[in-house]
Amino acid sequence: MRMLTQNEYWSGEAESFDAIYSHKKSNFAVFMDKLLRKAMYDRFAYTLKQSEPVVGRTFLDVGCGTGLYSLELARRGAKKVVGLDVADRMIEICKKRAKDAKLDRTTEFVSCDICKYTSNYPFDITIGMGLFDYIKEPTVALNRMREVTEEKVMLSFPVLWSWRTLPRLIRLRLRHCPVFFYSRRQIRGYMNRAGFSKVFIRQMGPMYFVTAS
Ligand SMILES: C[S@@+](CC[C@H](N)C(=O)[O-])C[C@H]1O[C@@H](n2cnc3c(N)ncnc32)[C@H](O)[C@@H]1O
Repeated sequence: MRMLTQNEYWSGEAESFDAIYSHKKSNFAVFMDKLLRKAMYDRFAYTLKQSEPVVGRTFLDVGCGTGLYSLELARRGAKKVVGLDVADRMIEICKKRAKDAKLDRTTEFVSCDICKYTSNYPFDITIGMGLFDYIKEPTVALNRMREVTEEKVMLSFPVLWSWRTLPRLIRLRLRHCPVFFYSRRQIRGYMNRAGFSKVFIRQMGPMYFVTAS
């Protein structure tokens, strides 16, 4: 079975992924999202809380998707937000939204794989939410993040064994999208090997929220 690249998969899924947040779907589907994807909404609220004070800080949002985190941080007064995504369609949507919301002076959206990303300046905070689910070997991506981050990174990783693991694995396999799951021990190992010495792991339902510096 040929697996799709992340650009192929997420460029095709951009609109339906966005509907998880915009709730532009049937009442039943919204109800199911609220039930099954509660951790995604909690993760968003927690990331914003842990980003305070946002005003004057710089952010790198890796795997920015349709720009929910990046645009909200810009709205809350971030000095600069760079959103990075390997899917061209995601970046197109982010750019249009930034322009429509008049946030295009403080935001920049770049179509790029984190493993190939370099920056001429560092960021205070780097975010990677719902990203490592789709990266087979996180070491290179984590190294890149550490190199460009001054204060801390905030990341999510899907839990190796949770009620969501098997249904998600099957659903994404059928759509030809590879997906990966992690134990706390594996995450700690990856983080330490990438040079992060302070690593805090908090479980949020079927995902781990990791803060590291
Ligand atoms: C599930 S979406 C999460 C979007 C957003 N962070 C959120 O939580 O709303 C995952 C995103 O990661 C992107 N992605 C996957 N692998 C990537 C990589 N190696 N470099 C940059 N982006 C990547 C995908 O294209 C996709 O848009």
